[in-house]
Amino acid sequence: MKRQLELTTSGAADTRRLAATVAGTLRVGDVVSLTGELGAGKTCFVQGAAAALGVTERVTSPTFLLRREYEGRVPIVHLDVYRLDTLQEAAELGLDDVGMCVTFIEWGDAMQPLLPADHLEIVFSATLDEPALGGDEIRRVVLRPRGADWRRRIVSLAVDCGPWRGDGGPTRLDALEL
Ligand SMILES: Nc1ncnc2c1ncn2[C@@H]1O[C@H](COP(=O)(O)OP(=O)(O)O)[C@@H](O)[C@H]1O
Ligand SMILES: [Mg+2]
Repeated sequence: MKRQLELTTSGAADTRRLAATVAGTLRVGDVVSLTGELGAGKTCFVQGAAAALGVTERVTSPTFLLRREYEGRVPIVHLDVYRLDTLQEAAELGLDDVGMCVTFIEWGDAMQPLLPADHLEIVFSATLDEPALGGDEIRRVVLRPRGADWRRRIVSLAVDCGPWRGDGGPTRLDALEL
């Protein structure tokens, strides 16, 4: 039984479309943790999600700035904790205001202990067919619901994400035991 939603996207534009679909379910207070190696598509996903949440400004990687804020239909915080050495630094970067915005955290797994129990984890990786990163490629995008709230919400999200589920995914909702 699947406890995660396994998707694939083909190309950056497709990842942005998937992100827009996921963003359709996001609301203030939500935390989305994005993991996967450099170039896997984390920032690309945040760009698609932010655009769908009404951000018109260009969303760029916060790799050096660590934290960016955007004003869409809701306030959006975009963190990148790749360069942080300690959990203390991550804490100082600010999760104080998570209740007032939608928060995206690149390399969020690095600060797992600080994340709220309820959050959506998204893992990006290249596929075996196309192991090299760069250019328009197939990416594996796995949505892992964390906490009871997201385990419930992922069920309807699984329906919305049908176009990215491929043949291997469960075809019935009840096959997705979450
Ligand atoms: N299916 C895909 N999804 C996302 N990005 C892709 C895909 N195929 C190719 N790419 C490219 O991979 C790169 C992803 O970069 P980025 O989103 O900044 O990664 P990260 O934030 O994980 O380091 C971009 O250059 C993008 O055009
Ligand atoms: Mg990035």
